[in-house]
Parts: sequence; C-alpha cells; structure tokens
Amino acid sequence: MSNEHTQEVLNQTVADLSKAAALVHQVHWYMRGPGFLSLHPKMDELMDDLNGHLDEFAERLITIGGSPVSTLAEFNEISKIEMSTATWEKSIANRLTEIVIAYKYLTDLFKDGIKIAEEDGDDVTVDLYTTALGDIEKTIWMLQAELGQ
Ligand SMILES: [Fe+2]
Repeated sequence: MSNEHTQEVLNQTVADLSKAAALVHQVHWYMRGPGFLSLHPKMDELMDDLNGHLDEFAERLITIGGSPVSTLAEFNEISKIEMSTATWEKSIANRLTEIVIAYKYLTDLFKDGIKIAEEDGDDVTVDLYTTALGDIEKTIWMLQAELGQ
C-alpha cells in the first residue's frame, strides 16, 4: 500500500510544528506585563511539548520511508502558520491569541492527519496524531482560560 499521503501530511506537520515552536519562542521573549512571571516559563513548557511531538512525527516519517524537511527555509515555505517580526507594543493577551490561532490550525491538521493515516492503514501514525491532538486541545483550553474565554 502506498503511504505517499501520510508522508505528505507528516512533512506538513514537521514544518508547522517547527514554526509553531518559533512563534512560542517569540512570545516567550517579547512578553511584557502582568502575568509575565507565570507565562514566561509556561512558554518553555509549550515549546518542549511542540518539540517533543515534532521529533516523534519526523522520526515516524523516516520509519515509514520518508524524509522530513529540516531547514528553516523549508519550514517557513511549507508551514501555514502566520508569524511576523516582533514589536514591544503587543499585549500578552494578543500574543497568547496568536498561539491559540496557530494551535487551532494544528488541531485541524492533526484531524486531517488521523483521516489520511487511517486511509493508508497506518495505525501508529493515527495514534501519534491522536495523542498530539489531545495535548494541543488541552493547551488551547488552558490558554483560553487564561484569556478569560
Ligand atoms: Fe528562556
């Protein structure tokens, strides 16, 4: 059975998780205001989570015969996550909202990943996406609770 589509969505995921980690790093560095002392270290946790999933997806891709994208240029070109040059004016709430938007995109991608991997009969990849989806959804809940939503 061909797993071309699973390879494709895994590479999309590698690019998007890499860029999502850069976005969270930007928020970690550029936040100023009430909540900093708890939110600054929280961003480290989010980066660790993203990088953990990233490594799992990339290594799964290699395991099934693929080649993960690995350069910053490829991540930026392939990823659909929006990111712009940082400024100091943006509020912490606005920055957290950018993360929520990116994470919601990731939940859509992971749901597609589950469907595509199911079609290719790849239960292990389905499982990876399911675990990552649960983590990302939980983080969205927490960020929205912090935002009072
Ligand atoms: Fe740091």
